[in-house]
Amino acid sequence: MRKQIAAANWKMNLTIQQAETLVSDLLSASFDLNQEREVVFAVPFPYLVSIQNIIAGKEHVSVAAQNCYNKLSGAYTGEVSAEMLKSIGVPYVIIGHSERREYFNETNAVLAEKVSICFEYGLKPIFCCGEALSIREAGTQNSHVENQLKESLFHLTEEHLTGFVIAYEPIWAIGTGKTATSEQAQEMHAHIRKVLATQYSEALANSISILYGGSVKAANAKEIFGQPDVDGGLVGGSSLIATEFSVIINSLK
Ligand code: PGA
Repeated sequence: MRKQIAAANWKMNLTIQQAETLVSDLLSASFDLNQEREVVFAVPFPYLVSIQNIIAGKEHVSVAAQNCYNKLSGAYTGEVSAEMLKSIGVPYVIIGHSERREYFNETNAVLAEKVSICFEYGLKPIFCCGEALSIREAGTQNSHVENQLKESLFHLTEEHLTGFVIAYEPIWAIGTGKTATSEQAQEMHAHIRKVLATQYSEALANSISILYGGSVKAANAKEIFGQPDVDGGLVGGSSLIATEFSVIINSLK
């Protein structure tokens, strides 16, 4: 089975005290995690090390950075490199979240560089894609997402992409309380898999975990994650509440 992942995207929320309490509360419950069922906390940069310390020894629980820069190193005040993340043992990095694309002008070309740098340093990108409401209303969401994949990922080899993680997050569903229906999620996830199968191979397409993101909550996680091509979720708001996120973790296939 492909890896099923419940990934918390805290964004720019919580103090370190609140963050530590949240993770401790969550981890006091026991979850049925294994090679194929994993929990990831994408936390702000300053918290990576302390959250890593809290989860130390918990198998199949890891941290992610929410971003990294598209240059290797140098005079880029305020930025964080893939090599720095690697040096503190961070395994995952979210790349291309729609908020990065929108507010920080991250283009498909910049994201292609970021993904390449992640691979150079052995970090696993969680690559985000998804369409705005206007694109969904025009009915062109499939070609829009296909183009995001093409321009940011298709320079990579099949070997690089094996076991890769993609998060499909329709922008109109992020933080709006408006979730895509499970049919809409399944349809796009199947489309993404088909695009990857055509460009690479069926085997590659089937190895990729495709997470759904956009107003996932305790009440809808089971139905969304139950879709055949949905391999878990990237969860914003509901990942900040221990009782919500623990139900979401327990909703993984
Ligand atoms: P949301 O955010 O769950 O609050 O909609 C998801 C995300 O942006 O990753």
